[in-house]
Amino acid sequence: MCGISGIAGSKNIGVPLLESIKHLEYRGYDSCGVAIMTPYHIEVRKNIGYVDEVNEREKLSEPQGEIGIAHTRWATHGGVTKENTHPHLSCNKDFAVVHNGIISNYMEIKKWLIGEGHKFHSETDTEVIVHLIEKYFPASKDVENAFVMAIKQLEGTYAIAMITTNEKDKIFCAKRESPLVIGLGDGANYIGSDFNAFIDYTKNAVVLDDDEYAVILRDRYFIKNTFSGDIVRKKITQINWDSDMAKKGGYPHYMLKEIYEQPQCVINAMQVDKGLIRKLSEMIMESNRVYLIGAGTTYYVSLFSEYNFSSIAGIFTPAISSDEFKNLGEVDKDSLVIAISQSGETYDTLNALKFAKSRGAKTSAIVNVMGSSIARFADHTIMQGSGPEICVISTKAALSQMIILLMVALEVGVINKKLTIKNKNEIERNISMLPELIQKILNEKSGFIHTIAYKFSHINNWLYLGRGKYYPIALESSLKMKEVAYIHAEGMPAGFLKHGTIALIDEKLYSIIFMPPKSNEELYNLSLGSAEEIKARKGFIIGFHFGEKGGVERLFNEEIILPKAQEVIAPFLELVVAQLFAYFTAVALKRNIDKPRSLAKSVTVA
Ligand code: AGP
Repeated sequence: MCGISGIAGSKNIGVPLLESIKHLEYRGYDSCGVAIMTPYHIEVRKNIGYVDEVNEREKLSEPQGEIGIAHTRWATHGGVTKENTHPHLSCNKDFAVVHNGIISNYMEIKKWLIGEGHKFHSETDTEVIVHLIEKYFPASKDVENAFVMAIKQLEGTYAIAMITTNEKDKIFCAKRESPLVIGLGDGANYIGSDFNAFIDYTKNAVVLDDDEYAVILRDRYFIKNTFSGDIVRKKITQINWDSDMAKKGGYPHYMLKEIYEQPQCVINAMQVDKGLIRKLSEMIMESNRVYLIGAGTTYYVSLFSEYNFSSIAGIFTPAISSDEFKNLGEVDKDSLVIAISQSGETYDTLNALKFAKSRGAKTSAIVNVMGSSIARFADHTIMQGSGPEICVISTKAALSQMIILLMVALEVGVINKKLTIKNKNEIERNISMLPELIQKILNEKSGFIHTIAYKFSHINNWLYLGRGKYYPIALESSLKMKEVAYIHAEGMPAGFLKHGTIALIDEKLYSIIFMPPKSNEELYNLSLGSAEEIKARKGFIIGFHFGEKGGVERLFNEEIILPKAQEVIAPFLELVVAQLFAYFTAVALKRNIDKPRSLAKSVTVA
């Protein structure tokens, strides 16, 4: 849950090194630092706070040097203090290390090293790495050898980068279960937790696999297997994102920019390679059990898609939160596990996939980040093509995943003879109207949603209620509110209300009801029934609905009326409104929109 980067160049690397951690800041942002090889020593500058704040105080780009490493932290071991901030130095200050991951046997190593006379300055698991390298170096006076000896002793997960005064032109790095990529530039080579670290400088990258290490110089590099020592040759990946895509482009926040990119994301999702959709559909049909897994938002994407697979394809594909998968998923060689992940690095999801594979199950993934661990681990991968999602809160990536899985459900529906080709084409035609309708909401409703959000920004407790597919939409919408505005919002099936939660309702409890279009009469009437239950207890209701008369105007205290839409796309429109509602509430409350407290974009710990 941290970002690491490094540059081996031929001129001062202070500024690009600083830029690299700015681009990785969404991975963790409680503290940051750099270690730069000056002609005399390794200069470490670090402190707690966001990159800009730390830079203001510490002048991170000031030290002069051509080699350096950097880190932006999301604390796991040890609090948010300057001492715990990376990079960490060895006792003699000849080695500096940054690390993303968790060293699970650090306590025993630390004890041993303290016995050997090493002095520790932090509470982190990371610091043992740099002392271990220092410990092993004198025997052979060979940095690579000492680095590998240290790495082999580590248990847990890591992406590590190290520089040393003993070989001033090299960065040593290693990977196990935390991402690490190498960027191949002109006159400089780079490393990063992901491509964003160096996307301004090169689009040529090499992705490290687990238990590999690399030595990087400005004009060359090599990769070896950590255990066999064999040289590993890798193909160069061309990054198809450009640096402008990862910039704010005039929007005040990435979250708003990414919400506004959704019409295009839907188009991209609909253009995903039909061969890959077909292949996944066949894999589903060939399996006895199919699970959809994800974490947080992607779990809700899974749940939403479970409804589509049942209703459209006639197949039950239970959605399981990936952190619970081992406790619930019954998997064998006839099972298929489909993982959904924006970052492709979420530990819980990757771990669940590994468990599934170890039981002989087939695996598939829908992922946004090229070259990510999940994208490479799954037997079958669909790249969702949503472009970089920088805001920690997922919006466009989630919507795209829902669309892709909907396309798969349609394909399975045809194979499973639940749909004719004609039905499928008609539904696809409806989906193709979605970008225009989302655009209409963005153009015509944003101002109104802004007003409503400001008006209700003092409300501390919300119920988000929906039935059928609108239930996972309510859950995902409530998560947006929690994450970005730090406001309690509880999503639940509207029909569940009467089984307990209704006891909470009085004039102080505010609810949002996600109404389906009236064309789904049964669901519509049932949803109205839930609104009646709230109204009868003086609860306050904001209704999201499609402008149909006959009850709603009497029940809702406020309403957000959406453009008329077919059932299959209606839930997406409500989701976009809920994203905007959460966003504007957070703006009203002056929250840190793109980097909310305690969160990180990719959660690579258990
Ligand atoms: C989304 O807004 C959240 N920040 C979070 O729930 C996220 O969706 C989850 O951690 C899974 O991430 P992934 O899609 O990168 O696997």
